[in-house]
Amino acid sequence: MSKVLSVNLEKAVDPALLGEYKEKVKEINTGINSKTLKGNDFLGWADYPTTYDKEEVEQIIKDAEYVRANYEVLVVCGIGGSYLGARAAIEAINGLKPDGGPEIIFFGNTFSPNYTAQVMSYLEKKSFAINVISKSGTTTETSISFRLVKDLLERKVGKEEARKAIFATTDKEKGALKTLSDKEGYQTYVLPSDVGGRYSVFTAVGLLPMAVAGIDIKAFLSGALLASKELNNPDLETNPCYQYACTRDYMYRHGKSVEMFVSYESQYTQIGEWLKQLFGESEGKEKKGLFPASATFTTDLHSLGQFIQEGTPLLYETIIYVDKPKADIAIPKDKEDLDGLNYLEGKNISYVNRKAFEGTLEAHTSGGVPCVVIELEKMDAYSLGYLLYFFMRACAMSAYLLEINPFDQPGVEIYKKNMFHLLGKKGY
Ligand code: PA5
Repeated sequence: MSKVLSVNLEKAVDPALLGEYKEKVKEINTGINSKTLKGNDFLGWADYPTTYDKEEVEQIIKDAEYVRANYEVLVVCGIGGSYLGARAAIEAINGLKPDGGPEIIFFGNTFSPNYTAQVMSYLEKKSFAINVISKSGTTTETSISFRLVKDLLERKVGKEEARKAIFATTDKEKGALKTLSDKEGYQTYVLPSDVGGRYSVFTAVGLLPMAVAGIDIKAFLSGALLASKELNNPDLETNPCYQYACTRDYMYRHGKSVEMFVSYESQYTQIGEWLKQLFGESEGKEKKGLFPASATFTTDLHSLGQFIQEGTPLLYETIIYVDKPKADIAIPKDKEDLDGLNYLEGKNISYVNRKAFEGTLEAHTSGGVPCVVIELEKMDAYSLGYLLYFFMRACAMSAYLLEINPFDQPGVEIYKKNMFHLLGKKGY
């Protein structure tokens, strides 16, 4: 087993209690590999780290270099699975105050008039390229935002120059975005038909924005490749991914209704958003599933900490803790010590963070909150690739344990229908 990541269930469940899942896990693992389960035509992500189009990745790297060399901003238009993975990966790897490279602006993930208008006026003064991402090619948030930025770009630099700055990620053959891209001659990348949005971070959906952000996408894919090999292991006793999935199921069946994803890194906050979509959209069906929530500690200990410790006992935590921070800083000495912090003089912030984690873990478990701890060795692209694949595989296993199709999202359509009706769209 690799040292990229470890799962510790000590503070959550007695592993002996998971024994009953052994056979079921084996069966589901076989079903994932042979693509014989519910939603099997969306299992393309499972071996994607092996089967991906190597030429397309080279093209992405080339195009990303071009964007990096020529534009101040990359505007990424997309929502849900066509947005969250790229943002989560970029922030997790580059941090919240990255040094150099084009600024990445995520757009089209809201109808907020304020955000939309503010981004548009900001872009007036910038040189920018666009990556529009939509599998269906018809998502309203994405389409409106793309119409706006495309129009601005064409007015600023002319149709010909704009064409060189627009990159579209969509279905290989069908959809409005594919038709438009072919007509306009945009560079296009493929979101494979057997990979759903929330499982698409390893495709061009995640890779182009990440490469423009200067991230080593081959390392990211290599981490996923290792995970896809190691975690494709039917033996529950030696597969931490499936141990985690079974723990989720155990929690669900033993009175917990919320899984709170916790990290101790501000730059992992968006990983929490990605996880909420992955698990929420995959599992929340047929009146089943854990509600996925997320928090960043210690920040949120000063808001949610009270409830977690002493409130309604509905949740358990899945903590992602990174052992080696990418950057660190020591606490300086102060002559007068009026703040009383000299006992920490010379200690790194990472040391304080670790002690906060250990102290909180004890506090919450003693308060009756089970805690799963996933420790990640490093914060690099390789480790993150491993981590995200780990969760995708765990999510599929969890949904199948609930006898749910992990790859559809029928409930999301209801708000859209109502909205289209109210907006007066033809046919609604
Ligand atoms: O996970 C999913 O499938 C969804 O979140 C989609 O990614 C999201 O609705 C955007 O869809 P599209 O890529 O078709 O614009």
